[in-house]
Amino acid sequence: SANALGMIIFAYLCGSISSAILICRLARLPDPRKFGSGNPGATNVLRIGGKAAAAAVLICDVLKGMIPVWLAYYLNVPPFYLGIVAIAACLGHIYPVFFHFKGGKGVATAFGAIAAIGWDLSGLIAGTWLLTVLLSGYSSLGAIISALLAPFYVWWFKPEFTYPVALLSCLVLYRHHDNIQRLWRGQESRIWHKLKKKT
Ligand code: G3P
Repeated sequence: SANALGMIIFAYLCGSISSAILICRLARLPDPRKFGSGNPGATNVLRIGGKAAAAAVLICDVLKGMIPVWLAYYLNVPPFYLGIVAIAACLGHIYPVFFHFKGGKGVATAFGAIAAIGWDLSGLIAGTWLLTVLLSGYSSLGAIISALLAPFYVWWFKPEFTYPVALLSCLVLYRHHDNIQRLWRGQESRIWHKLKKKT
């Protein structure tokens, strides 16, 4: 339907607005693409800019996934296309049309898109991320474990969305290949470094 196509384009454009780059620019912080891990996401903004900027990036990136899916849902876009709207928002974040198609890893935006499905599901995913990060100190490991488990959670709670969520997970995992190598070699940086002010 026309609604579905319009929402898919809208979702991709929303996703393409890089909160990390824009918020760092507004706050006169260094460009997250040039410092830390080089990733324009909340984790790297925490690394280079601190908690407030990182929280703002996290909220905006989650909303980029949540708003298009919610809007599409209220416009009666059918479930199959809701999945495509979610994927479009994430692809926008990862390959942003406004920033030379060089974006982030899709964690917060995928979470936002999935959160639009239900609070039970998003609570479970957020809990998995938080627990992993608290135990390990690695933000990337939280994303990797959450992406691996999310398809099983959704299959349990809302089986009709298993395929799109599995696809989102694949995207997020694929974007973490550098993190996976760093974790493997024991060279990944922990977010606790910043919080505990250790170097
Ligand atoms: O949210 C992205 C996170 O999982 C990894 O980010 O900057 O540590 O590569 P970063």
